[in-house]
Amino acid sequence: MSRRTRSRQEWEVCASTLARKTTNLIRRIVENLQVEPNPNKELIALSIGDPTTFGNLNPPEQVLQAVRDSIELNTSRGYAPSKGHYEARVAVAKYSAHQGNVHPDDVILSSGCSHAIEMVITALADCGQNVLIPRPGFSIYQTLAEGMGIVIKHYNLLPDEQWKVDLDDLESQIDDDTVAIVVINPSNPCGSVYDKDHLNEILDIASRNRVPIIADEIYEHFIFSGNKFTAISSLSQDVPVLTCGGLTKRFLVPGWRMGWVIIHDRNNILGKEIRQGLSNLSMKILGPNTLIQRALPAILEYTPQSFFDDVLLFIEDQAKLAFEELRHAPGLRPIMPQGAMYMMIEIKLSNFPEFSNEFEFIECMVSEQSVFCLPGTCFDYPNFMRIVLTIPEDKMREACQRIVLFCKEHVVFSEKRKDIEEDVSITTDVQVICDNDARVA
Ligand SMILES: Cc1ncc(COP(=O)(O)O)c(C=O)c1O
Repeated sequence: MSRRTRSRQEWEVCASTLARKTTNLIRRIVENLQVEPNPNKELIALSIGDPTTFGNLNPPEQVLQAVRDSIELNTSRGYAPSKGHYEARVAVAKYSAHQGNVHPDDVILSSGCSHAIEMVITALADCGQNVLIPRPGFSIYQTLAEGMGIVIKHYNLLPDEQWKVDLDDLESQIDDDTVAIVVINPSNPCGSVYDKDHLNEILDIASRNRVPIIADEIYEHFIFSGNKFTAISSLSQDVPVLTCGGLTKRFLVPGWRMGWVIIHDRNNILGKEIRQGLSNLSMKILGPNTLIQRALPAILEYTPQSFFDDVLLFIEDQAKLAFEELRHAPGLRPIMPQGAMYMMIEIKLSNFPEFSNEFEFIECMVSEQSVFCLPGTCFDYPNFMRIVLTIPEDKMREACQRIVLFCKEHVVFSEKRKDIEEDVSITTDVQVICDNDARVA
Protein backbone atom coordinates (compact mmCIF):
# COMPACT_ATOMS: atom_id res chain seq x y z
CA MET A 1 0.00 0.00 0.00
CA SER A 2 1.40 3.41 -0.96
CA ARG A 3 2.04 5.86 1.86
CA ARG A 4 0.60 9.40 1.48
CA THR A 5 3.07 12.18 2.06
CA ARG A 6 0.67 14.99 1.24
CA SER A 7 -1.51 16.49 3.90
CA ARG A 8 -4.00 18.34 1.69
CA GLN A 9 -7.57 17.11 2.07
CA GLU A 10 -9.32 19.56 -0.23
CA TRP A 11 -8.75 20.53 -3.84
CA GLU A 12 -6.94 23.85 -4.13
CA VAL A 13 -5.31 24.63 -7.44
CA CYS A 14 -3.73 28.09 -7.63
CA ALA A 15 -2.30 29.95 -10.58
CA SER A 16 1.45 30.51 -10.40
CA THR A 17 2.91 33.90 -9.60
CA LEU A 18 4.15 34.13 -13.19
CA ALA A 19 0.68 33.44 -14.55
CA ARG A 20 -0.96 35.91 -12.21
CA LYS A 21 1.53 38.68 -12.82
CA THR A 22 1.60 38.38 -16.59
CA THR A 23 -0.65 40.99 -18.18
CA ASN A 24 -0.99 42.65 -21.54
CA LEU A 25 -1.54 46.35 -21.01
CA ILE A 26 -3.17 46.93 -24.40
CA ARG A 27 -5.60 44.04 -24.00
CA ARG A 28 -6.41 45.05 -20.42
CA ILE A 29 -7.13 48.66 -21.33
CA VAL A 30 -9.11 47.86 -24.47
CA GLU A 31 -11.20 45.22 -22.71
CA ASN A 32 -12.04 47.65 -19.91
CA LEU A 33 -13.31 50.33 -22.26
CA GLN A 34 -17.05 49.89 -21.95
CA VAL A 35 -18.71 51.67 -24.76
CA GLU A 36 -21.00 50.83 -27.66
CA PRO A 37 -20.36 52.36 -31.08
CA ASN A 38 -23.01 54.55 -32.69
CA PRO A 39 -25.41 52.01 -34.28
CA ASN A 40 -25.90 54.32 -37.26
CA LYS A 41 -22.24 54.42 -38.22
CA GLU A 42 -19.98 51.54 -39.13
CA LEU A 43 -17.22 51.07 -36.55
CA ILE A 44 -13.77 51.97 -37.88
CA ALA A 45 -11.02 50.58 -35.68
CA LEU A 46 -7.82 52.54 -36.10
CA SER A 47 -6.38 50.58 -33.23
CA ILE A 48 -5.26 47.22 -34.58
CA GLY A 49 -1.57 46.88 -35.39
CA ASP A 50 -2.20 43.89 -37.66
CA PRO A 51 -1.78 44.92 -41.31
CA THR A 52 -3.89 41.97 -42.49
CA THR A 53 -7.04 43.05 -40.64
CA PHE A 54 -8.81 44.72 -43.55
CA GLY A 55 -7.58 42.40 -46.32
CA ASN A 56 -6.18 45.31 -48.36
CA LEU A 57 -2.53 44.38 -47.80
CA ASN A 58 -1.35 40.91 -48.77
CA PRO A 59 1.98 39.14 -49.18
CA PRO A 60 3.21 38.67 -52.76
CA GLU A 61 2.75 35.48 -54.74
CA GLN A 62 6.42 34.51 -54.24
CA VAL A 63 5.91 34.35 -50.48
CA LEU A 64 2.73 32.29 -50.76
CA GLN A 65 4.40 29.94 -53.26
CA ALA A 66 7.35 29.43 -50.93
CA VAL A 67 4.96 28.12 -48.27
CA ARG A 68 3.06 25.96 -50.78
CA ASP A 69 6.38 24.40 -51.79
CA SER A 70 7.37 23.94 -48.19
CA ILE A 71 4.24 22.00 -47.32
CA GLU A 72 5.21 19.36 -49.88
CA LEU A 73 8.59 18.76 -48.27
CA ASN A 74 8.83 15.88 -45.86
CA THR A 75 11.50 17.88 -44.04
CA SER A 76 9.05 20.65 -43.17
CA ARG A 77 6.99 18.58 -40.73
CA GLY A 78 9.43 17.36 -38.15
CA TYR A 79 11.25 19.08 -35.34
CA ALA A 80 14.18 21.28 -36.25
CA PRO A 81 17.20 22.03 -34.08
CA SER A 82 15.86 24.42 -31.41
CA LYS A 83 17.80 27.36 -32.84
CA GLY A 84 16.30 26.63 -36.27
CA HIS A 85 17.22 24.75 -39.42
CA TYR A 86 20.69 25.64 -40.63
CA GLU A 87 19.48 26.65 -44.12
CA ALA A 88 16.93 29.03 -42.62
CA ARG A 89 19.58 30.59 -40.39
CA VAL A 90 21.90 30.97 -43.38
CA ALA A 91 19.08 32.79 -45.18
CA VAL A 92 18.45 35.14 -42.24
CA ALA A 93 22.18 35.86 -41.91
CA LYS A 94 22.36 36.78 -45.60
CA TYR A 95 19.17 38.88 -45.45
CA SER A 96 20.56 40.72 -42.41
CA ALA A 97 23.96 41.60 -43.86
CA HIS A 98 23.11 45.32 -43.48
CA GLN A 99 23.28 44.80 -39.70
CA GLY A 100 26.98 43.95 -39.83
CA ASN A 101 28.85 40.73 -40.34
CA VAL A 102 26.25 38.06 -39.49
CA HIS A 103 27.16 34.37 -39.34
CA PRO A 104 24.44 31.67 -39.27
CA ASP A 105 25.63 30.74 -35.76
CA ASP A 106 24.66 34.27 -34.67
CA VAL A 107 21.03 33.61 -35.63
CA ILE A 108 18.39 31.98 -33.46
CA LEU A 109 14.95 31.57 -34.96
CA SER A 110 11.94 32.35 -32.82
CA SER A 111 8.19 32.22 -32.83
CA GLY A 112 7.64 35.81 -33.88
CA CYS A 113 9.58 38.83 -32.68
CA SER A 114 7.86 38.70 -29.27
CA HIS A 115 9.47 35.33 -28.62
CA ALA A 116 12.84 36.73 -29.72
CA ILE A 117 12.37 39.56 -27.20
CA GLU A 118 11.41 37.09 -24.49
CA MET A 119 14.54 35.04 -25.11
CA VAL A 120 16.91 38.00 -25.00
CA ILE A 121 15.33 39.49 -21.88
CA THR A 122 15.40 36.21 -20.01
CA ALA A 123 18.92 35.47 -21.21
CA LEU A 124 20.14 38.75 -19.71
CA ALA A 125 17.98 39.51 -16.68
CA ASP A 126 17.38 37.89 -13.35
CA CYS A 127 14.52 38.72 -11.02
CA GLY A 128 15.09 42.23 -9.59
CA GLN A 129 17.25 43.42 -12.46
CA ASN A 130 15.93 45.95 -14.92
CA VAL A 131 15.56 46.64 -18.62
CA LEU A 132 15.10 50.17 -19.97
CA ILE A 133 12.42 50.74 -22.58
CA PRO A 134 11.28 53.91 -24.34
CA ARG A 135 8.26 55.91 -23.24
CA PRO A 136 6.05 55.87 -25.25
CA GLY A 137 6.90 52.31 -26.13
CA PHE A 138 5.40 49.00 -27.09
CA SER A 139 3.96 47.21 -24.08
CA ILE A 140 5.05 43.64 -24.87
CA TYR A 141 8.11 44.29 -22.71
CA GLN A 142 6.02 44.55 -19.55
CA THR A 143 4.05 41.46 -20.55
CA LEU A 144 7.21 39.41 -20.97
CA ALA A 145 9.24 40.67 -18.05
CA GLU A 146 7.17 41.69 -15.10
CA GLY A 147 5.72 38.27 -14.31
CA MET A 148 9.28 37.05 -13.76
CA GLY A 149 10.09 39.92 -11.43
CA ILE A 150 12.25 41.63 -14.07
CA VAL A 151 11.73 45.37 -13.69
CA ILE A 152 10.82 47.52 -16.68
CA LYS A 153 12.04 51.11 -16.38
CA HIS A 154 11.29 53.85 -18.88
CA TYR A 155 13.36 56.50 -20.56
CA ASN A 156 11.59 59.40 -22.24
CA LEU A 157 11.24 60.18 -25.91
CA LEU A 158 10.80 63.78 -27.03
CA PRO A 159 7.61 64.40 -29.03
CA ASP A 160 8.80 67.83 -30.16
CA GLU A 161 12.01 66.38 -31.58
CA GLN A 162 10.42 63.64 -33.65
CA TRP A 163 10.50 61.30 -30.71
CA LYS A 164 14.25 61.27 -30.30
CA VAL A 165 15.56 59.79 -27.07
CA ASP A 166 15.96 62.20 -24.16
CA LEU A 167 19.61 61.24 -23.74
CA ASP A 168 20.02 62.76 -20.28
CA ASP A 169 16.97 60.92 -19.07
CA LEU A 170 18.21 57.67 -20.61
CA GLU A 171 21.55 57.91 -18.86
CA SER A 172 19.97 58.88 -15.55
CA GLN A 173 17.84 55.72 -15.60
CA ILE A 174 20.82 53.36 -15.82
CA ASP A 175 21.80 51.79 -12.51
CA ASP A 176 23.78 48.79 -11.29
CA ASP A 177 20.86 46.47 -12.01
CA THR A 178 20.34 47.58 -15.60
CA VAL A 179 21.03 44.69 -17.97
CA ALA A 180 19.89 46.17 -21.29
CA ILE A 181 18.60 49.24 -23.11
CA VAL A 182 15.82 48.54 -25.59
CA VAL A 183 15.85 50.68 -28.73
CA ILE A 184 12.74 50.34 -30.91
CA ASN A 185 13.64 51.73 -34.33
CA PRO A 186 11.50 52.43 -36.35
CA SER A 187 9.13 52.89 -33.47
CA ASN A 188 5.80 51.53 -32.44
CA PRO A 189 3.86 53.65 -31.48
CA CYS A 190 5.66 56.81 -32.67
CA GLY A 191 6.70 55.99 -36.24
CA SER A 192 10.05 57.67 -35.62
CA VAL A 193 13.20 56.64 -37.47
CA TYR A 194 16.58 57.49 -35.95
CA ASP A 195 19.48 58.70 -38.05
CA LYS A 196 23.07 57.55 -37.62
CA ASP A 197 24.07 60.47 -35.41
CA HIS A 198 21.32 59.81 -32.96
CA LEU A 199 21.96 56.07 -32.89
CA ASN A 200 25.62 56.85 -32.17
CA GLU A 201 24.58 59.07 -29.27
CA ILE A 202 22.61 56.17 -27.81
CA LEU A 203 25.53 53.81 -28.38
CA ASP A 204 27.87 56.23 -26.57
CA ILE A 205 25.69 56.07 -23.49
CA ALA A 206 25.49 52.29 -23.65
CA SER A 207 29.25 52.04 -24.10
CA ARG A 208 30.09 54.45 -21.27
CA ASN A 209 27.83 52.58 -18.91
CA ARG A 210 28.65 49.08 -20.22
CA VAL A 211 25.06 48.16 -21.02
CA PRO A 212 24.14 45.89 -23.95
CA ILE A 213 21.42 46.98 -26.38
CA ILE A 214 18.33 45.07 -27.38
CA ALA A 215 17.45 46.41 -30.85
CA ASP A 216 13.79 45.85 -31.65
CA GLU A 217 13.91 46.18 -35.42
CA ILE A 218 10.70 44.42 -36.37
CA TYR A 219 9.96 47.51 -38.52
CA GLU A 220 13.41 47.55 -40.20
CA HIS A 221 13.30 49.09 -43.69
CA PHE A 222 9.80 50.41 -42.98
CA ILE A 223 10.68 54.03 -43.68
CA PHE A 224 9.14 56.88 -45.62
CA SER A 225 10.85 58.89 -48.35
CA GLY A 226 13.53 61.25 -47.16
CA ASN A 227 14.55 58.97 -44.29
CA LYS A 228 17.09 56.16 -44.10
CA PHE A 229 17.07 53.07 -41.95
CA THR A 230 20.31 52.18 -40.17
CA ALA A 231 20.62 49.09 -38.02
CA ILE A 232 22.13 50.14 -34.71
CA SER A 233 24.33 47.02 -34.69
CA SER A 234 26.07 48.23 -37.85
CA LEU A 235 27.36 51.28 -35.95
CA SER A 236 28.41 49.64 -32.72
CA GLN A 237 32.15 49.52 -32.02
CA ASP A 238 31.97 47.71 -28.73
CA VAL A 239 28.42 47.58 -27.37
CA PRO A 240 26.90 44.10 -27.80
CA VAL A 241 23.61 44.32 -29.68
CA LEU A 242 20.92 41.65 -29.68
CA THR A 243 18.68 42.42 -32.62
CA CYS A 244 15.12 41.10 -32.66
CA GLY A 245 13.31 40.96 -35.99
CA GLY A 246 11.15 38.78 -38.16
CA LEU A 247 8.76 38.43 -41.06
CA THR A 248 5.75 39.82 -39.23
CA LYS A 249 5.35 43.38 -40.49
CA ARG A 250 7.50 43.72 -43.58
CA PHE A 251 6.14 40.58 -45.18
CA LEU A 252 2.58 41.14 -43.86
CA VAL A 253 2.37 37.73 -42.18
CA PRO A 254 2.04 38.32 -38.42
CA GLY A 255 0.18 35.04 -37.92
CA TRP A 256 3.01 32.96 -39.33
CA ARG A 257 4.99 33.66 -36.18
CA MET A 258 8.48 33.73 -37.63
CA GLY A 259 11.08 35.88 -35.98
CA TRP A 260 14.73 35.80 -34.97
CA VAL A 261 17.44 37.01 -32.66
CA ILE A 262 20.74 38.08 -34.18
CA ILE A 263 23.73 38.28 -31.87
CA HIS A 264 26.17 41.10 -32.63
CA ASP A 265 29.13 40.84 -30.33
CA ARG A 266 32.14 42.17 -32.18
CA ASN A 267 34.42 42.21 -29.15
CA ASN A 268 33.18 38.95 -27.69
CA ILE A 269 31.83 40.66 -24.60
CA LEU A 270 28.81 38.41 -24.25
CA GLY A 271 31.06 35.38 -24.57
CA LYS A 272 29.88 31.82 -24.63
CA GLU A 273 27.56 32.18 -21.68
CA ILE A 274 24.92 34.39 -23.30
CA ARG A 275 25.04 32.41 -26.56
CA GLN A 276 24.60 29.21 -24.59
CA GLY A 277 21.84 30.85 -22.53
CA LEU A 278 19.95 31.85 -25.67
CA SER A 279 20.45 28.40 -27.09
CA ASN A 280 19.11 26.86 -23.85
CA LEU A 281 16.10 29.16 -23.90
CA SER A 282 15.30 28.26 -27.51
CA MET A 283 14.74 24.71 -26.30
CA LYS A 284 11.70 25.78 -24.29
CA ILE A 285 9.53 25.58 -27.40
CA LEU A 286 11.82 23.25 -29.41
CA GLY A 287 12.12 25.93 -32.11
CA PRO A 288 9.50 27.69 -34.20
CA ASN A 289 7.20 26.43 -36.94
CA THR A 290 9.22 24.32 -39.40
CA LEU A 291 6.80 24.82 -42.30
CA ILE A 292 7.78 28.49 -42.38
CA GLN A 293 11.43 27.74 -41.55
CA ARG A 294 11.67 25.66 -44.71
CA ALA A 295 10.00 28.43 -46.73
CA LEU A 296 12.26 31.10 -45.25
CA PRO A 297 15.17 30.94 -47.76
CA ALA A 298 12.79 31.45 -50.70
CA ILE A 299 10.75 34.11 -48.89
CA LEU A 300 13.83 36.15 -48.06
CA GLU A 301 15.44 35.71 -51.45
CA TYR A 302 12.56 36.00 -53.91
CA THR A 303 10.25 38.66 -52.49
CA PRO A 304 10.50 41.42 -55.09
CA GLN A 305 11.62 44.89 -54.04
CA SER A 306 8.56 46.27 -55.85
CA PHE A 307 6.35 44.60 -53.22
CA PHE A 308 8.12 46.40 -50.36
CA ASP A 309 8.08 49.68 -52.30
CA ASP A 310 4.35 49.45 -53.00
CA VAL A 311 3.44 48.70 -49.38
CA LEU A 312 5.59 51.56 -48.12
CA LEU A 313 4.20 53.98 -50.64
CA PHE A 314 0.69 53.09 -49.55
CA ILE A 315 1.49 53.55 -45.86
CA GLU A 316 3.29 56.83 -46.46
CA ASP A 317 0.31 58.12 -48.46
CA GLN A 318 -1.95 57.11 -45.61
CA ALA A 319 0.28 58.97 -43.17
CA LYS A 320 0.08 62.13 -45.32
CA LEU A 321 -3.67 61.78 -45.66
CA ALA A 322 -4.23 61.34 -41.93
CA PHE A 323 -1.82 64.13 -41.07
CA GLU A 324 -3.44 66.56 -43.50
CA GLU A 325 -6.95 65.76 -42.28
CA LEU A 326 -6.15 65.75 -38.59
CA ARG A 327 -4.14 68.95 -38.55
CA HIS A 328 -7.55 70.57 -39.09
CA ALA A 329 -8.99 68.92 -35.99
CA PRO A 330 -9.12 71.63 -33.33
CA GLY A 331 -7.50 70.48 -30.12
CA LEU A 332 -5.46 67.70 -31.71
CA ARG A 333 -1.79 67.67 -32.65
CA PRO A 334 -0.84 64.87 -35.03
CA ILE A 335 2.87 64.11 -35.23
CA MET A 336 3.97 63.10 -38.70
CA PRO A 337 5.75 59.71 -38.59
CA GLN A 338 8.90 58.92 -40.56
CA GLY A 339 8.25 55.20 -40.84
CA ALA A 340 6.60 52.08 -39.35
CA MET A 341 2.80 52.08 -39.59
CA TYR A 342 1.50 54.31 -36.82
CA MET A 343 0.89 57.93 -35.95
CA MET A 344 0.68 59.45 -32.50
CA ILE A 345 -1.79 62.28 -31.93
CA GLU A 346 -1.80 64.56 -28.94
CA ILE A 347 -5.21 65.33 -27.44
CA LYS A 348 -5.04 68.77 -25.87
CA LEU A 349 -7.36 68.05 -23.03
CA SER A 350 -7.40 71.68 -21.94
CA ASN A 351 -9.49 72.25 -25.09
CA PHE A 352 -11.90 69.47 -24.13
CA PRO A 353 -12.87 70.28 -20.53
CA GLU A 354 -15.72 67.75 -20.52
CA PHE A 355 -13.16 64.93 -20.64
CA SER A 356 -10.76 64.35 -17.78
CA ASN A 357 -8.50 61.96 -19.65
CA GLU A 358 -7.94 60.45 -23.09
CA PHE A 359 -10.10 57.43 -22.26
CA GLU A 360 -13.19 59.59 -21.87
CA PHE A 361 -12.37 61.40 -25.09
CA ILE A 362 -11.97 58.12 -26.98
CA GLU A 363 -15.04 56.50 -25.43
CA CYS A 364 -17.20 59.45 -26.39
CA MET A 365 -15.73 59.39 -29.91
CA VAL A 366 -16.66 55.70 -30.22
CA SER A 367 -20.20 56.28 -29.01
CA GLU A 368 -20.78 59.28 -31.29
CA GLN A 369 -18.59 58.67 -34.34
CA SER A 370 -17.82 54.94 -34.14
CA VAL A 371 -14.09 55.56 -34.50
CA PHE A 372 -11.73 53.80 -32.14
CA CYS A 373 -8.10 54.80 -31.54
CA LEU A 374 -5.74 53.28 -29.00
CA PRO A 375 -5.33 55.37 -25.83
CA GLY A 376 -1.78 56.62 -25.23
CA THR A 377 -1.83 55.03 -21.77
CA CYS A 378 -1.39 51.69 -23.58
CA PHE A 379 2.13 52.97 -24.24
CA ASP A 380 2.51 54.63 -20.86
CA TYR A 381 1.80 57.98 -22.55
CA PRO A 382 -1.46 59.59 -21.48
CA ASN A 383 -3.16 62.42 -23.43
CA PHE A 384 -2.20 60.89 -26.74
CA MET A 385 -3.82 58.33 -29.00
CA ARG A 386 -2.29 56.07 -31.66
CA ILE A 387 -3.77 55.31 -35.04
CA VAL A 388 -2.66 52.61 -37.50
CA LEU A 389 -1.99 53.60 -41.10
CA THR A 390 -2.60 50.28 -42.83
CA ILE A 391 -6.37 50.51 -43.16
CA PRO A 392 -7.95 51.10 -46.60
CA GLU A 393 -7.83 54.68 -47.88
CA ASP A 394 -11.60 55.27 -47.92
CA LYS A 395 -11.91 54.11 -44.33
CA MET A 396 -8.96 56.23 -43.28
CA ARG A 397 -10.44 59.32 -44.89
CA GLU A 398 -13.86 58.66 -43.39
CA ALA A 399 -12.37 58.00 -39.94
CA CYS A 400 -10.31 61.20 -40.01
CA GLN A 401 -13.30 63.27 -41.12
CA ARG A 402 -15.35 61.85 -38.26
CA ILE A 403 -12.54 62.65 -35.81
CA VAL A 404 -12.41 66.25 -37.08
CA LEU A 405 -16.19 66.53 -36.73
CA PHE A 406 -16.03 65.12 -33.22
CA CYS A 407 -13.37 67.64 -32.23
CA LYS A 408 -15.33 70.55 -33.72
CA GLU A 409 -18.37 69.50 -31.73
CA HIS A 410 -16.53 69.18 -28.44
CA VAL A 411 -13.69 71.67 -28.52
CA VAL A 412 -13.80 74.67 -26.18
CA PHE A 413 -11.38 77.50 -26.67
CA SER A 414 -10.38 79.73 -23.82
CA GLU A 415 -11.57 83.39 -23.75
CA LYS A 416 -8.56 84.79 -25.48
CA ARG A 417 -8.94 82.28 -28.27
CA LYS A 418 -12.61 83.09 -28.95
CA ASP A 419 -11.56 84.99 -32.05
CA ILE A 420 -10.45 81.81 -33.74
CA GLU A 421 -13.25 79.65 -32.47
CA GLU A 422 -15.13 79.84 -35.72
CA ASP A 423 -12.14 79.23 -37.92
CA VAL A 424 -10.94 75.83 -36.92
CA SER A 425 -8.68 75.61 -39.93
CA ILE A 426 -6.31 78.08 -38.28
CA THR A 427 -3.51 75.89 -37.04
CA THR A 428 -2.21 78.19 -34.30
CA ASP A 429 -3.49 75.78 -31.75
CA VAL A 430 -2.85 72.73 -33.81
CA GLN A 431 0.89 72.97 -33.98
CA VAL A 432 2.39 70.51 -36.37
CA ILE A 433 5.69 68.87 -35.91
CA CYS A 434 7.08 67.75 -39.20
CA ASP A 435 10.55 68.07 -40.61
CA ASN A 436 9.28 67.63 -44.08
CA ASP A 437 6.39 70.06 -44.12
CA ALA A 438 6.87 70.70 -47.81
CA ARG A 439 6.55 67.01 -48.45
CA VAL A 440 3.18 66.69 -46.77
CA ALA A 441 1.78 70.05 -47.73
C1 LIG B 1 7.80 47.16 -31.60
C2 LIG B 1 7.28 45.75 -31.70
N1 LIG B 1 8.04 44.74 -31.28
C3 LIG B 1 7.62 43.48 -31.35
C4 LIG B 1 6.37 43.15 -31.85
C5 LIG B 1 5.92 41.72 -31.86
O1 LIG B 1 6.06 41.16 -33.13
P1 LIG B 1 5.58 39.68 -33.44
O2 LIG B 1 4.16 39.75 -33.85
O3 LIG B 1 6.50 39.22 -34.54
O4 LIG B 1 5.76 38.87 -32.21
C6 LIG B 1 5.53 44.18 -32.29
C7 LIG B 1 4.19 43.88 -32.79
O5 LIG B 1 3.37 44.71 -33.03
C8 LIG B 1 5.99 45.51 -32.22
O6 LIG B 1 5.23 46.54 -32.62
